Amino acid sequence: MDENSRIAALSELPDDSTFLFTIRDGFDEEEAVLVTQDEDVLAWKNYCQHWTDVRLDKGNGATMRDGELVCGKHGALFEADSGVCSYGPCEDAVLDSVDVTVEDGAVYLTDPDYEFVQQGSSIEYDLSSNRSLGFE
Ligand code: FES
Repeated sequence: MDENSRIAALSELPDDSTFLFTIRDGFDEEEAVLVTQDEDVLAWKNYCQHWTDVRLDKGNGATMRDGELVCGKHGALFEADSGVCSYGPCEDAVLDSVDVTVEDGAVYLTDPDYEFVQQGSSIEYDLSSNRSLGFE
């Protein structure tokens, strides 16, 4: 497996939250999160399907409840294993998926549409407003 696509060791992933990382699509950087569900590791883009500029994981791990990701803005719930919104203003919408695979105790990005950039966010955020700086 290509070491440039290595996102994180399995041991780095939280049990009841998300692990934030940055990917690149051409010139555009975007965020995604890893979630563990049973024995699986899945990855979703880090953006709510209600307002797509709202991040689920703001840098400290997204809130999770009973296997669902919680959007802190208006309370939408997304099933961690399917990405489907089960409750909230965007019910039945689906989070955008990112392909990853687990090998030798680590998670690798395998999605041909993206390059791995780094762990965490690459963008500076104004935490008082939850909006990114300088990109609007
Ligand atoms: S922005 Fe996520 S529920 Fe409204």
